[in-house]
Amino acid sequence: MLDVAILISGQGSNLQALIEACEEPDFPARIVVVISNNPDSYGLQHARKAGLPTAVINHRDFEDRETFENAIDEELKNHKAKFICLAGFMRILEARFVNRWKDRILNIHPSLLPAFKGLHTQERALEAGVRFTGCTVHIVRPEMDDGPIILQAAVAVDPEDTAENLSEKVLRLEHIIYPEALKLMAMGRVSISGNKAIIEKATYHKGGLISPEIL
Ligand code: GRF
Repeated sequence: MLDVAILISGQGSNLQALIEACEEPDFPARIVVVISNNPDSYGLQHARKAGLPTAVINHRDFEDRETFENAIDEELKNHKAKFICLAGFMRILEARFVNRWKDRILNIHPSLLPAFKGLHTQERALEAGVRFTGCTVHIVRPEMDDGPIILQAAVAVDPEDTAENLSEKVLRLEHIIYPEALKLMAMGRVSISGNKAIIEKATYHKGGLISPEIL
């Protein structure tokens, strides 16, 4: 059983998807703590409703990133977390922290990485006129929205799509691939080779167009 901490900042719909997955009897991971840097994060309510331990570590209470990240580390240690899922966590984590947790942090990003790193991804996808957009679960590396890709799901862009409804479509896919990616990690079915993740005996295909590597 993999003991996971979830870091959030906002509405926490990915957190909720992970909570539901972890409640399944055979799921190989469990959530030991939910940490938010934002005391008003709605995700904290999801966590409380599920009876999970929560912690607010507000970056504004700290002098710099290092002391903020040390406080997160302390909390992770207190709950004996062995793995981290960033789920809409809106703070950049410094190399020192990321390297301490090397290959043990996942992130979800609402684009088909390496396209459209950063914010406002669906607006930028529409502006670029891409025919597909989607989401990516990847291992976190010190560079923002970078690192070995575990799973991706794509959705076609319709001519009438707006950034808002595209975000909703993508979010629905996020809720499918994030638990699935965590499951693969927890089962030890992912090995990292350079900047690539290799998935053992992958058969997963659901809810969108998933990376050919795993079909
Ligand atoms: C998601 O779109 C995720 O990809 C991005 O931030 C958003 C978080 O949404 N990193 P939620 O808080 O999980 O609902």
